[in-house]
Amino acid sequence: MKRKGPHTVTPAELIAKKRDGCELSRDEIAFVIRGFVDGSIPDYQMSALAMAIFFQGMQDEETASLMQEMLLSGVRLEWEPGSPIVDKHSTGGVGDKVSLVLAPLLAACGLRVPMISGRGLGATGGTLDKLESISGFRTDLSISAMQAIVERVGCVITGATEDLVPADRKLYGLRDVTATVPSIPLITASIISKKLAESLDALVLDVKCGSGAFMKTRDQAVELAQSMVRAGQRMGVRTTALVTDMNQPLGRMCGNAVELDETLDCLAGEGPDDLRYVTLALGSELLVSAQRCTTPAEAEALLVDRLDSGAAREVFEQMVVAQGGSLKVGCRVAPEQAVLAEKSGFVTKMNTEALGMAVIDLGGGRRKMGDSVNHSVGIEMRVKIGDEVSAGEPLARVFADRKVPAIISRVAGAIMIEDTHAEWPDFIVEYVR
Ligand code: URA
Repeated sequence: MKRKGPHTVTPAELIAKKRDGCELSRDEIAFVIRGFVDGSIPDYQMSALAMAIFFQGMQDEETASLMQEMLLSGVRLEWEPGSPIVDKHSTGGVGDKVSLVLAPLLAACGLRVPMISGRGLGATGGTLDKLESISGFRTDLSISAMQAIVERVGCVITGATEDLVPADRKLYGLRDVTATVPSIPLITASIISKKLAESLDALVLDVKCGSGAFMKTRDQAVELAQSMVRAGQRMGVRTTALVTDMNQPLGRMCGNAVELDETLDCLAGEGPDDLRYVTLALGSELLVSAQRCTTPAEAEALLVDRLDSGAAREVFEQMVVAQGGSLKVGCRVAPEQAVLAEKSGFVTKMNTEALGMAVIDLGGGRRKMGDSVNHSVGIEMRVKIGDEVSAGEPLARVFADRKVPAIISRVAGAIMIEDTHAEWPDFIVEYVR
């Protein structure tokens, strides 16, 4: 491809420039992204550039240019004047059902929440898949339908439409097959451009860290969180991040229908402590950033009131109805099989990614895009890191329609039992503001 870019530079010369560690200008990045979207820059050149970025990284200025060009490739939502528009984005974890609780909870606190979510791929579950456990629930809303629901109910959780950041959709497809997903500037531009397209006033990022997360170490997770916070703030969106623990599943349930049940427990003021704690912490960030509350303590008191009074649950029910679903028809959960401890001791570690993959292998998630999902399967964790267990005690329950001895032994093998006691990990590892 010999097409000339700014100052008559060819795409190959731009790739070489990045490969050699030089900075690309805004014009050069605009040339590449526009050409990639209109098809004049072919996939092989874009893949080569993604690989050069993967190895050389980008300066903040370049990441911002990439993000802005990706944003310009699609539409941007416009909102009626009114209460603040906010959203939360999670980098993905096992048992992470925070979005399902947080969107209606924030709406019950008077914020507008247009939550555009994704599907599960790899070990982490997808918010849309969990919601599709609800009979009739639609996640393919048009932009106008989505905006109408936000104005009426206060929140919506739906999938991205074709016209929201098409450059990211196309580039992510290439990164997925060229091993260039785990690059901090590429992730930052991808996630923040999609959030900017929602025209938010405030954004909170939940960057998961640990054995079930994309970012395995605290340092990597903090670096990603800082990069995304800088990018959001630079574009005028009040952006903060929490780095949260993913060394074990969040809550007890992993799967689709079972996670929806746990969501409803949390919306009834019950449910597991870690899910409630992380949800309240993320919600407090947004209430303060959106200037609905002046301190985190005031924000938390408001959130607790809206959760325990049933107000958030009411908004959730309204959202379900507005999106075509019905909670009257219960979600089926497959029969249970116990996973028992083979020895006594303390739970010291979990291979959370292996637990997520066990859910996928039960049929609860996708190995590749387009695979169908069985909403009724899953795993309930009966122990947490730090718990003492006796031989023969249940560690977990697996929900499946057939006998799954291989999965039962994989789940048992993913839960490490040792003689010495381990501390409960902190739910929140770091605040990035
Ligand atoms: N999720 C995204 O939306 N984009 C990335 O690049 C990685 C995870």
